[in-house]
Amino acid sequence: MRLSVIGCGYVGLVTGACLAEAGHEVVCTDIDGERIAKLNAGGVPIYEHHLDQILASAHKAGKISYTADAGQAIRSGDAIFICVGTPPKDSGEADLSAIDNVARQIAAEAKSPKLVVEKSTVPARTGLELSRALAAYSKKSDVKFRVASNPEFLREGTAVADFFHPDRIVVGVEDPSSAAELREIYRPILERSFRCPVHNGTCPPGRKAEFLVTTINSAELIKHASNSFLALKISYANVIADLCEKIGANVEEVTHAMGLDARIGGQFLKAGLGYGGFCFPKDVQAFIHLSASVGVDFDILKATERVNKQRIDRFFEKIRQALWVVKGKRVAVLGLAFKANTDDIRFAPALEVVKRLLEEGAVVHATDPEGMPRTKALFPQVHYHEDAYQALQDADAALVCTEWDVFRKLDWDRAGKLMARKLVIDGRNLYMPQGMREKGFEYYSFGRD
Ligand code: UDX
Repeated sequence: MRLSVIGCGYVGLVTGACLAEAGHEVVCTDIDGERIAKLNAGGVPIYEHHLDQILASAHKAGKISYTADAGQAIRSGDAIFICVGTPPKDSGEADLSAIDNVARQIAAEAKSPKLVVEKSTVPARTGLELSRALAAYSKKSDVKFRVASNPEFLREGTAVADFFHPDRIVVGVEDPSSAAELREIYRPILERSFRCPVHNGTCPPGRKAEFLVTTINSAELIKHASNSFLALKISYANVIADLCEKIGANVEEVTHAMGLDARIGGQFLKAGLGYGGFCFPKDVQAFIHLSASVGVDFDILKATERVNKQRIDRFFEKIRQALWVVKGKRVAVLGLAFKANTDDIRFAPALEVVKRLLEEGAVVHATDPEGMPRTKALFPQVHYHEDAYQALQDADAALVCTEWDVFRKLDWDRAGKLMARKLVIDGRNLYMPQGMREKGFEYYSFGRD
């Protein structure tokens, strides 16, 4: 099928690339002309595992193209995927102005009927507004639009694999024909009828994805409800960690046993510095805001958010307790990205840690396999190192902020010899406390002795 993707960020590029790889003809557009130029020159503007490979193969097969001319992109597709940003306003409410702009553009540019699919995370009832905007602004052309919601559940870092192996594909529609069209778009993925590039065509058997047809309002709610629930699980584990510290229990023993109960599940129970990224913090806020706007008090989510914000305070309590005076201390920050395997630093807990360290007068040395270029622009006063051992040289403390594998595998005997003081404060519970102490380190983590 011929598809258009509006917005070439994380969601748009992964969606466009994967749908092209699955055999569709995809035209991508973005208001950022430089981004389109880079894509046209064979570059990839973001780091996402496997994305470069898929874009290259789709490009070679002539299945994907990029244009800065939104009108051309809009006219070329039978279905248009809206993948533009919905950042939070100061109030926590989602800013839908980019969606509104795109809606008006589609209405103005389309010359034939279109299925307009919202993929960006949006509050419930956005689909209704989208329908209204499309109808209102297409008065002159008489083109008919159908609207659908098709939320993404992609994790950064594994987004390509997630796209090809989803647990569920949710489509919120107004009519059966939209559902049929979306089923056709996703047929190669539902039937696994193409060579999956992530596993070279030898995908692990796994469960087949469920294709769920719902109302548009339900589909929109499913996205927010899912992400908020995962955030809630993390905050829950973090409170258990605090409790473990007070009581003298081990959070990993507790959450491991909890997770073995199939009703609970073992994922997203990792205690530490808490969640960051461009999804959870804003989705939780937007969900609280949406609930309040319809008179439903979502108190549990307010607590989820509060607990998450307090993680940085808890980390700093540990830093202060260990270092006594922070001012003038040389501190190595290991990890800047909001999680491992991404260069995304948006709402990364590490950035808040860096900010507070600088405010308190620490000398900050930092390293991250992918997150440094973006962080440099925000914190030019930090000393950046490609190599973790260089960052640890003469450090009074190492602070682990992101769960990168390279940090998990660090040789602490070697690092210990380089550091001014053998002190590790681990915000991601990467190491065994006993093992670190045997190496002669003062070691602090979350919820374990
Ligand atoms: C999330 C959702 O998982 C995805 O389905 C949705 O479409 C987009 O938002 P992502 O933002 O890529 O994906 O990050 P995710 O892997 O879910 O992690 C979010 C944050 O929670 C990270 O900062 C991570 O370090 C933290 N986290 C995760 C924990 O602190 N503990 C855990 O147990 C799991």
